[in-house]
Amino acid sequence: MASSIVNVPCNVQAIKGLDCQNYIGLRPSRNLKFNCVKTGTTARPPRLLVVRASEKIDGPVKKMGLSDAECEAAVVAGNVPEAPPVPRKPAAPVGTPVVPSLPLNRRPRRNRKSPVLRAAFQETQLSPANFVYPLFIHEGEEDTPIGAMPGCYRLGWRHGLVEEVGKARDVGVNSVVLFPKVPDALKSSAGDEAYNDNGLVPRAIRLLKDKYPDLVIYTDVALDPYSSDGHDGIVREDGVIMNDETVHQLCKQAVSQARAGADVVSPSDMMDGRIGAIREALDAEGFQHVSIMSYTAKYASSFYGPFREALDSNPRFGDKKTYQMNPANYREALVETHEDESEGADILLVKPGLPYLDIIRLLRDNSSLPIAAYQVSGEYSMIKAGGVLKMIDEEKVMMESLMCLRRAGADIILTYFALQAAKCLCGEKR
Ligand code: PBG
Repeated sequence: MASSIVNVPCNVQAIKGLDCQNYIGLRPSRNLKFNCVKTGTTARPPRLLVVRASEKIDGPVKKMGLSDAECEAAVVAGNVPEAPPVPRKPAAPVGTPVVPSLPLNRRPRRNRKSPVLRAAFQETQLSPANFVYPLFIHEGEEDTPIGAMPGCYRLGWRHGLVEEVGKARDVGVNSVVLFPKVPDALKSSAGDEAYNDNGLVPRAIRLLKDKYPDLVIYTDVALDPYSSDGHDGIVREDGVIMNDETVHQLCKQAVSQARAGADVVSPSDMMDGRIGAIREALDAEGFQHVSIMSYTAKYASSFYGPFREALDSNPRFGDKKTYQMNPANYREALVETHEDESEGADILLVKPGLPYLDIIRLLRDNSSLPIAAYQVSGEYSMIKAGGVLKMIDEEKVMMESLMCLRRAGADIILTYFALQAAKCLCGEKR
């Protein structure tokens, strides 16, 4: 849904709340009456606030003096009423060179000259409905700050997680993606904990769905948080990441997440053929309605550093270059796009975000599917650090980076700024 944010001065504060996905700027009128109606039944608490406007004319229209005909006759007779004079030309500062004006018949600045015109011609809109909020969870009761990601926490799945999701929903962010910090003792070389129906992620999904049935839950499908090797797949003794065996595990993981109530499973592992295999596994278990968001173009990037610290999931040896893509490659993203499309992906994701805007645009122009961008941990931390050091304006750079991801062609953005940015869009101060 394309919705816009009223960002020009207006007399009535943007009415927000509603379903928190629409923001409507309303101009006051003497004749309009607003009735706020809370909806809901006894079984379900009221959530929607419906605003109705009705025309009401109180009494006859007041007479101002002369009739229309008398006014027209006066003007025709040459008695033109007074209006403010033609404004004088503003003076240029002393010393401004006097030059003939350039013979331009197109001056693009004309369409940028006032906030109202700029708002009217704005091509890209940003809304909390576009955000997916990545959340780190752990078994603990407390929320633990993540050193490399100021403002982010490993949330206790029973309390902190539920509260954080509640806050996000309050400002219109109703989609989350979960990343678990798994106890070392549960990690193994085949990552079998990934499909434990009573593991951390399935438990958290069940709790969230119980509390917020309309929340959209995305999950990460990959073995790295569960792998004693810190790799996204099973590692052979010679260091090779085993493709088809890993896909077998990923199918079980995706089905287990779907069983718990996940809405969108998101394979981030970059194994070949996993989208088709997962689609088949989900369908075979009756999860035809569960979507797949494929990490289509996921690059072997150093921007993931803070994330790996958050989950303690650094590869124990080597790197991820045999499965994640080479940052130097562009055309290869099309190969992955065609594969994922034909295997049945519902959403295609590009990761990281800002350094890969060309790839987002490439996918946007070559697929009709929705495109997602992941503004990853390193991008987040750089903006935070620059803000703390007062080198940049954190809030403005945050909003600009998100807008640019949308402009490049992303429909949705996975971003650790989801809550902070949505608060800004809703006009709340931090
Ligand atoms: C793991 C996964 C990673 C991220 C999301 N899923 C890390 C990796 O591939 O090493 C990174 C997210 C971020 O940096 O914010 N499958």
